[in-house]
Amino acid sequence: MRLHVVDHPLVAHKLTTLRDERTDSPTFRRLADELVTLLAYEATRDVRTEQVDIRTPVAPTTGVRLSYPRPMVVPILRAGLGMLDGMMRLLPTAEVGFLGMVRDEHTLEATTYATRMPEDLSGRQVYVVDPMLATGGTLVAAIDLLIDMGADDVTALCLLAAPEGVETMERKLAGKPVTVVTAAVDDHLNDQGFIVPGLGDAGDRLYG
Ligand code: PRP
Repeated sequence: MRLHVVDHPLVAHKLTTLRDERTDSPTFRRLADELVTLLAYEATRDVRTEQVDIRTPVAPTTGVRLSYPRPMVVPILRAGLGMLDGMMRLLPTAEVGFLGMVRDEHTLEATTYATRMPEDLSGRQVYVVDPMLATGGTLVAAIDLLIDMGADDVTALCLLAAPEGVETMERKLAGKPVTVVTAAVDDHLNDQGFIVPGLGDAGDRLYG
């Protein structure tokens, strides 16, 4: 597994406003959307392309276009929905699958309550979006499922990560074709499984 922390002043600026408890839900949604687009630019650096011959008004030339099969974007409901539009802005032809997962407040175990996806992901590049990587349980379960379905390259985009979650992913997904792209790795997880300093409960701040 590879970890890529996006180091950019615009990312840091938007993340700081997201973290601020005074930021209201409409502003939070707008900033999350903008931040995803910046993360998506980095996360799609290895998106598969193929060569294509075209003509400009002046001369023939060679360029690239996205390869088939198209990449998949998979938001993890509920909070991941707040990242879908920002992702689709950069990959408008991507196919979208949905995974509904929820973490038990007490045990912090993730369970899957909805799956809407093509049956076969063989040879597909998949971009999973979920704002928070806390214990890592949700993303490990989601990525294991996607790889079992045939995905051969998975990139997870998270607004924020905890070092404990990154360590769990590195351990449980060792040797698998997985990249995590995030705006920051914070200090630690608290006893309730919240990232510290974090930004609170992303699902509640987006939709609560
Ligand atoms: C949050 C978050 C992740 C998960 C992270 O979702 O959006 O999906 O928790 O936790 P983990 O890394 O410890 O597994 P939550 O379960 O609160 O559901 P929601 O998106 O419906 O609010």
